[in-house]
Parts: sequence; C-alpha cells; structure tokens
Amino acid sequence: MEIRHVGVLGCGLMGSGIAQVSAMAGFDVTVLEVEQRFLDKGFSGIEKSLAKFAEKGTLKEKPEAVRARMKGTTRNQDLAGCDIIIEAIIENLADKRKMYAALDPIVKKEAIFASNTSSISVTEMMTATKRPERFVGLHFFNPVPLMKLVEVVRTIATSDEVYESAYEFGKKLGKVPVRTSDKTGFIVNRLLVPYLLDAIRAYEEGVGSIPDIDNAMKLGCGYPMGPFTLLDFVGLDTTYYITHVMYDEFKERRFASPPLLKRLVMAGWYGRKSGRGFYDYADPGNPVPGKF
Ligand code: CAA
Repeated sequence: MEIRHVGVLGCGLMGSGIAQVSAMAGFDVTVLEVEQRFLDKGFSGIEKSLAKFAEKGTLKEKPEAVRARMKGTTRNQDLAGCDIIIEAIIENLADKRKMYAALDPIVKKEAIFASNTSSISVTEMMTATKRPERFVGLHFFNPVPLMKLVEVVRTIATSDEVYESAYEFGKKLGKVPVRTSDKTGFIVNRLLVPYLLDAIRAYEEGVGSIPDIDNAMKLGCGYPMGPFTLLDFVGLDTTYYITHVMYDEFKERRFASPPLLKRLVMAGWYGRKSGRGFYDYADPGNPVPGKF
C-alpha cells in the first residue's frame, strides 16, 4: 500500500516536528489535537522552523507550499482516510491505549499505526487495536526537523510487509532508519539514558562541576551537547519518566534515577521548557549552572 496521507496525533514538540518533516517530504498531513490552541502553538513552531530552512536555502519549495499540505483538526473522523497514523501524545500508556482504541474503528483497515514512544512497550499499545500486525514504533529525535535518525520498532506481531513499508517511509522522510525490536528504550535510549544518569551520579559524587562535565564530553568526545545541556533540552520530567519504565523492565541500577534528578523534577525544574533545570535560563543566551 502506498503511503500518501499521514495522520499525526499530538502537535507538541515531537508531533509538530513529525508533521513538518512529513509535509516537507511531500505527504499530505492531518494533525489531531484535543484543543485548537495546541494546534495553533504547534503550527506556529512549524512556520518558524520552515522559515529557518527557507532562509538557509535548504527548502526545495516555498514554506507556504509545505504549509498548504498540512491541516489541523480536533475531530477523530478527519483521520479516517490516512495511510499511516503516527502517535506522539503524552507518554502515558492508558492515554495512548484509549486513543488507539478510539481511532481503530475509524481509520481505514489497511492503515499502519505507529507510535513515537521513547520507552513504552509498543506491544502493550497494539493490543488496544484489532490490527496488531499493522503496528510499529517510529521513534524520532528532538529536534525532529534536524535529527537524521528514526528507529523503526518491530513487535513479535508486526507483519513483514508493514515493517518494510514503515522502514521505507522513514527513508522517504529523509531520515536514516535503523531496525530495532520492541525492547524498552530501543537502541538510543538504552545507551543514552545510562550515560545521562551516570553524568548526574558523577556530579553527585564530586567528580566535576556541571559545566566541566558538559565541556569534558563536548570537547573530549565531540558530542554536540554535554550531558546536562542535553538533559535540560530533552526535559528532566521526560528523562525521569523514562528511567522508571526502563528500571521497571530491566531492574538494573544503571537505569535508576539518581536522587538529584528526582529532586529537580519534584521542584518543577524540568529544564529549558520550565526555565530551570541543571542550568538556569533566566537569560537564555547565557544559562547559569545551578548549585545543588
Ligand atoms: N528547524 C530548523 N532549523 C533549526 C531548528 C529547527 N527546529 N533548530 C535549530 N535550527 C537551526 C539553527 O537556526 C541553526 O542554524 P544556523 O546554523 O544557520 O545558525 C542550526 O540549526 C544549528 O542550531 P544551533 O546553532 O542552535 O545549535 P547547534 O549547532 O548546537 O545544533 C542541535 C543544534 C542540532 C540540536 C545540536 O546541538 C544537537 O545535535 N544536539 C543533540 C540533540 C540530541 O541529542 N537529540 C536527541 C535527544 S534524545 C531524544 O530526542 C529521544 C528521546 O527519546 C529522549
């Protein structure tokens, strides 16, 4: 089945990015949100990002032409004709299952369902539908318009035809797809999360200051961001949530949240999005490391 029309669930940071790259690749896109204001916020981010690409001359057509292929909706029925549905709503299994169960009877039978989850089991989501063989994970990375990777996640029930279609779709989006199976964290978070948590433990144990650990990994290993800058970028609440899912799956200390991460999350210091995390972003041009 040829994929022409992409449905995206959620217009937050990830959903809007997925919608944008889909439209940039020439697909028609419908984005579902619960309220119009979330669509407005997401589309305003998309327009800014398209303008940046246009300014750099890396967009093949006018931003308005890309934007014209995208529409937002708050009605489930508007996704009925989509060929693939990519879900990027809140990381909560019950909410995701509810959403899939509601859409399964509406969206055409041949359509593929894909989740952008970073850690929840795809297998647990697919059982909310009557199309487990047409269910995959498509895990994108933040910021979606810039990050080249997509993890294509196969469950024990995914059919070969659906898996290959999802893999090819990833390529058509201009991404480099990698094949992985439905083990919590897939490839990237399985390796990234213990590294980030170890950086926090190293700081707790007095190995180095926050900027020194960041600089060490940036300048010593060539990483684009140090671990604390990346933690603040991903969101401490998101990371904290992932640690729970991963620890619950593997029961290994390397996936367990260090006390400081928990304290920051409890304080509501989620990183860049809340203005404070391991750094204070009161002056976003010059973030100051926190003293804990
Ligand atoms: N759309 C279009 N252009 C954008 C953009 C966007 N959304 N965001 C940034 N840009 C542009 C900037 O305008 C800038 O353009 P110029 O070069 O013309 O100035 C360019 O991209 C580079 O941006 P910056 O100068 O701001 O910063 P940078 O050089 O450090 O690059 C970055 C930014 C690509 C994010 C880089 O820092 C990076 O790769 N960081 C690591 C990100 C990462 O690891 N992400 C994965 C997180 S894990 C995850 O997402 C999954 C999970 O499950 C938790």
